Amino acid sequence: MSSQVAIGSLGISGSHEPRQQGGTPSPFTLVDLQHRQVRYVRISLTDRCNYRCTYCMPAEGVEVVDRPQLLRFEEIVRLVRIFVAMGIRRVRLTGGEPLTRRRVVDLIAQIAAVEGLEDLAMTTNGHQLVSLAGPLHDAGLTRLNVSLDTLDAERFAAITRQGHLKHVLDGLKSASEAGFSGIKLNAVMLRGLNDAETSDLLAFARAHGHVLRYIEYMPIGTDDYWGPESFISGDELRTRLTDAGWTLRGDDISASRGGGPARYWQAWPRGVDPDSAPGTPVGFITAVSDHFCATCNRVRVSPVGTLRECLSTAGALSLRDLMRQGAEDAVVTQAIRDALDGKVDGHRFWSGQTTLESMVQIGG
Ligand code: 5AD
Ligand code: SF4
Repeated sequence: MSSQVAIGSLGISGSHEPRQQGGTPSPFTLVDLQHRQVRYVRISLTDRCNYRCTYCMPAEGVEVVDRPQLLRFEEIVRLVRIFVAMGIRRVRLTGGEPLTRRRVVDLIAQIAAVEGLEDLAMTTNGHQLVSLAGPLHDAGLTRLNVSLDTLDAERFAAITRQGHLKHVLDGLKSASEAGFSGIKLNAVMLRGLNDAETSDLLAFARAHGHVLRYIEYMPIGTDDYWGPESFISGDELRTRLTDAGWTLRGDDISASRGGGPARYWQAWPRGVDPDSAPGTPVGFITAVSDHFCATCNRVRVSPVGTLRECLSTAGALSLRDLMRQGAEDAVVTQAIRDALDGKVDGHRFWSGQTTLESMVQIGG
């Protein structure tokens, strides 16, 4: 399928005006040339993954970097220390699949010990949570996002190619028992793939006290699903939910959820009175139909230590090389500041921009 699909043809009716950012930057935070405060760093621990989700990677022939190329534990911890000194308070660890990194629990403990860091989160496919949820929690991980696109075992196996739904569902249980609360579930929604489960996924989240976020597919890595046949916008998902009997109210609680990319609504299933029963939060990450670039508050570090200012552009600064060349903290800090001056004002996905690096290479 061509990647040159104009956004109009995706049937998106929402505004493409970027949302505005409020607040006054403090002198100790990272601010880019668009005056966006960078509050949040995503660090990818590996480009390897034990799944092969169809929207993320090809089935075979996925090249991975040699282990010596990966940031070492002490380099990761050093970077966290530098970012914290620059005002960052929140770090999210991603992949690939971060739990495939050897001795990951030790690494979590080392990062969690960095003074000044307030929030250490992880995005995982959940495959290994049965054994690791407890140790991760004890090591100081504070929050978990788990990918869950379907509740159907066969469909799960088809989407992930190598996954087992039961591992993930058991892993979610272990995570709750280990003390993780407000676990977020990420569902990439695609027409003809899992859209029939739009309502079921939300019912599952409500039943288990998790927070579901529907994610619009982005043309990253593979653009196989980039077109109106597959793409589903947040607007369409909300219509489907109301058609299935859900009452949605909001979007008024985004601010209370850490300023991430999701916009949240409250949802009540059919038969539950919204005025007398608590709703379930439900998020929509509408990176394509309603991009949030103007309020983007994050930078990414790839598994090999490249600073990536925006998901849509290739990063140029190798923090790893700088550190391995013996750069002092002050030099690394200045390099990060300079790189941020190059952070683009927004992605251009709807005018045909795609990136051939996948989420696993970039660090989702
Ligand atoms: N578009 C949107 N989301 C994606 N993810 C992986 N590839 C894509 C894509 N092309 C999601 C995963 C995971 C998160 C890190 O990114 O499902 O939840
Ligand atoms: Fe699936 Fe995430 Fe692995 Fe990609 S990185 S294949 S989305 S589990």
